[in-house]
Amino acid sequence: MEKFSQSRRKFITTLTMLLASGGLLVRYLTPRRAVKRQVLASAARADVPINGALVFRNERLALLRDAHGFYALSLVCTHLGCTVTVTEDVLSCPCHGSRFDRQGRVLSGPADRSLARMDVEVLGERIEVVG
Ligand code: FES
Repeated sequence: MEKFSQSRRKFITTLTMLLASGGLLVRYLTPRRAVKRQVLASAARADVPINGALVFRNERLALLRDAHGFYALSLVCTHLGCTVTVTEDVLSCPCHGSRFDRQGRVLSGPADRSLARMDVEVLGERIEVVG
């Protein structure tokens, strides 16, 4: 009887270990799902003239266009997080006066880091800013 009990206990332990390691193996070998693409803002190509910008105030980003194409910048100031204002020549922060060029590079502080660039996808006549 004792031998039967030990044998059964060993069988259950082995089975549990096999199931656990099998589950880990399946999880390890299963490819991760791609991160879901999220459209943060979109616009028609014609809505953004060359050297122009389209501001998405709620999303705190701007879709800009220059001679090379479209790009998007976060309007979150890299100093303390105020929303940067877009003008014809520069992007400026109303809180402490940081100024950025149209590529988002710092022209004057106190901010010491460029504005974050965001991914842009051109889909025919539609431009999407994706995150
Ligand atoms: S938050 Fe923009 S300069 Fe301070």
